[in-house]
Amino acid sequence: MSLTNAPDPAIRQAVVQQDLDNVLHPIVQHKVLEGKQMVVTGAQGSTIYDADGTEYLDAMAGLWCVNIGYGRAELAEVAAEQVRQLAYYPHTAMNVPASALAEKINGLMGGGYHTYFVNSGSEANEAGFKIARQYMKHEYPQHYRFKTISRYFAYHGTTLATLDAGGMGERKAKFEPYSGDFVHVAPPYCYRCPFGLSYPSCALACVKNMETTILGEGPETVAEVIVEPIMSGVGVAVPPDEYLPEVEKLCRKYDILLHVDEVINGFGRTGKMFGHQHYGVAPDIVAIAKGISSAYLPIAATVVKNSVFDSFLGEASENRQVAQVNTYGGHPVSAAVALRNIEIMQAEKLVEHSAEVGSYLLDGLRSLMRHAVVGDVRGKGLLLGIELVKDRATKEPVGAEQITAVADFCRDNGVLVGRGGGGRRYGNTITLSPPLVITRSECDRIVETLHRALSTIRLD
Ligand SMILES: Cc1ncc(COP(=O)(O)O)c(C=O)c1O
Repeated sequence: MSLTNAPDPAIRQAVVQQDLDNVLHPIVQHKVLEGKQMVVTGAQGSTIYDADGTEYLDAMAGLWCVNIGYGRAELAEVAAEQVRQLAYYPHTAMNVPASALAEKINGLMGGGYHTYFVNSGSEANEAGFKIARQYMKHEYPQHYRFKTISRYFAYHGTTLATLDAGGMGERKAKFEPYSGDFVHVAPPYCYRCPFGLSYPSCALACVKNMETTILGEGPETVAEVIVEPIMSGVGVAVPPDEYLPEVEKLCRKYDILLHVDEVINGFGRTGKMFGHQHYGVAPDIVAIAKGISSAYLPIAATVVKNSVFDSFLGEASENRQVAQVNTYGGHPVSAAVALRNIEIMQAEKLVEHSAEVGSYLLDGLRSLMRHAVVGDVRGKGLLLGIELVKDRATKEPVGAEQITAVADFCRDNGVLVGRGGGGRRYGNTITLSPPLVITRSECDRIVETLHRALSTIRLD
């Protein structure tokens, strides 16, 4: 395949056949792929190219991850240089890029953290659960603290434990039963407040619900609370400003660790380096992935506060070291690429750009409220959602066919958007998470395409 992004129908057809004959794809029904496929052969900035010559504005940055945009040849050089120097060695030893990356992350977190490297967001959360449990075994041997409190409609990953932590029934159903170690509480999803209340008169009923749950379970059985600062999977739910600080207070009150999932929120997505930095909290465990390398290579990490790190120190005979290892953790090539990715983000002020252009895009999306089907428009930085309803008064969600028709219209008109919600039943939100390099005119194009989609498609 050429690197010119020129259409090549013959190669495209060959790839489609080869793929259909050999590949098992995630989450997409193969019958759908038999009818229509994307064969992505190149990408630059916020644009991706299909082998048939079609260009798409990728308003989802892949899977919420290509934060610095596509086509950064500089990262290819960094990877090549590191492969020549040291392609791999287990992270039981030290290596130059992983050490420098951990120092960079510590600085971005404001200091006082150590980083444990893994390979995906799921693994980062899973390691977080295990670190929380091990910490509790060291610090509270008299207790049996192993439970994680999480929220309904959250998504924390695809392994059994992270799925269990997540609160999306339909994503979990095919793999039941689960361990029961993850206890769910109501999310701060204000548009559909689980208590039927409105902020601020709700007095944060969702935090009270969390406290009731902790007390009901017995605080001495709870290891941690996991929260994504701005929930993405539910269709982007921005909590009230006091929510996260109040959750942190609960954690401190009951000696529970606060585990923050920054897999999507992190690395500028919400207009700050990390989502939790909007709220002035200091989490004990932070899962990072995606934007850490802008997905140029797989890498992720579980970042722990030094008070947690200290619990893993001792004589070898005390057996307090992290009780797990993974082959690729701290991979020098991924680490070198991630480090340069963050340096690019800082040099080009992409976090600031995310805040600024994100609020421009949010304003544009608010103009879509002129369509009766738009129930809510929300977001922070470049993490945004447009929730579609049949009726604004009842908030009845539009059906799966209708939201699919909107997304398909956008795709057929050259803009790729996402869909979110608490599982299929509630998947009635168009989500946007474009590369942080997106321009104002590209934002205009997203709004204009959505406007045409909402004008064209019958949604009642
Ligand atoms: C909030 C959140 N946490 C964790 C994950 C899991 O990350 P990964 O797919 O890299 O395992 C995702 C994936 O989309 C996510 O959105």
